[in-house]
Amino acid sequence: KLKVAVLTSGGDSAGMNAAVRAVVKGSILQGCETWIVREGYEGLVRGNTESADTAASREAPQNANLKVYDSDFIANLRFGDGTLLRDGTADFSDGRSLHGRYIVRVGWDDVRGWFSEGGTLIGTARSTTFRTNEGRLKAAYNLIKEGIDALVVCGGDGSLTGADVFRAEWPTLVATLRSEGRISEEQAKYHGHLRIVGLVGSIDNDMSMTDMTIGAPTALHRICEAIDSIHSTALSHSRAFVLEVMGRHCGWLALLAGVSSGADFVFIPERPPQCIPWEDEMCEAIQRQRGVGKRKTIVIVAEGAHDKELNPIRADHVKDVLSERLGLDTRVTTLGHTQRGGRPCAMDRLLPTLQGLDAVDALLEATPETPSYMIGVRENKITRVPLMEAVAMTRSVAQLISEKNFEKAMELRDPEFKE
Ligand code: F6P
Repeated sequence: KLKVAVLTSGGDSAGMNAAVRAVVKGSILQGCETWIVREGYEGLVRGNTESADTAASREAPQNANLKVYDSDFIANLRFGDGTLLRDGTADFSDGRSLHGRYIVRVGWDDVRGWFSEGGTLIGTARSTTFRTNEGRLKAAYNLIKEGIDALVVCGGDGSLTGADVFRAEWPTLVATLRSEGRISEEQAKYHGHLRIVGLVGSIDNDMSMTDMTIGAPTALHRICEAIDSIHSTALSHSRAFVLEVMGRHCGWLALLAGVSSGADFVFIPERPPQCIPWEDEMCEAIQRQRGVGKRKTIVIVAEGAHDKELNPIRADHVKDVLSERLGLDTRVTTLGHTQRGGRPCAMDRLLPTLQGLDAVDALLEATPETPSYMIGVRENKITRVPLMEAVAMTRSVAQLISEKNFEKAMELRDPEFKE
């Protein structure tokens, strides 16, 4: 009987809860035991310093207070071992509610309704300790202590790389723990191999070898709604708006939002403006639009946008150019984390559900010889690709951009790409 744990890591994204729910329910349906790891890899490193019983008894006074939050849903979110997931403050990132327990057994009911919740209910972190060998040794010990032999990681390329490093290092970690006498001979034998599968949670849609990452559709929808709101106020005043959207290395959100909302100009990292200075190119395009009677102007700037020489293009500067050179009354709107939080759209419930279920199948089929898989989606079909191939390709795109080889970067990001 496999003991499956699931964690979310890196920046949160809408749909992560649906992924956790699918992994938990899918595992139970396959006869596995299920666990969640709170606070990403940080939770793996911290492990459990209190027994479930002690933690549960400490919860008692708090539970009594829960009624004031007037929500059965929140009040009843409990893990399989009786400890409480959320205490109504809707934030347990300080670990108060679970008292020294980061790896927690969960049951079917614990994840009920999770697909409509935003962010990640089990917490996430960008763990620096897990990047050290000592941190990973602690993480291995904590997993073995709970008897866990399979892990699903939902996160971006950094988090998935961490997963692959952990798996590759696993036999050495187990050998070290055995030689230090921290685990028994039987434990070392039983835990000779760690099964790992990755799900891609990232609003930027920045992972190669998959068409869509978990959280990207919701973020895109959020941007489109924001542009719809800006549209009416911009029209009223005949103004220009410069919108900065997320996407550190990937312009998918900016580009797709531009297409979906009829923006006048879009700046993305993969395809910088052809001219230097780019200001001329932009002004010419906007003037053309204004010349045919357009009363409003929308320019979208991806967070990681730059010119052909890799000089950053900032929303404030774009605003100054529009105001000073074209005389447009211009405002800047930075959408920031409104793109990341909030309830997931339907696609960000469906996709992680199907992928979470496949992740469990992939875990059950894994052998020491098979690579760690990343569950993706291609042309509407759930796919499995070797995790490190996808990560390597994603990194090559970033590398090509940094070498100013934009065309090749775009090709690699999307092999179907045509100018
Ligand atoms: O997850 C990626 C991302 O959405 C980037 O587009 C953005 O730069 C980053 O997260 C911001 O993350 P944080 O505020 O958590 O550092």
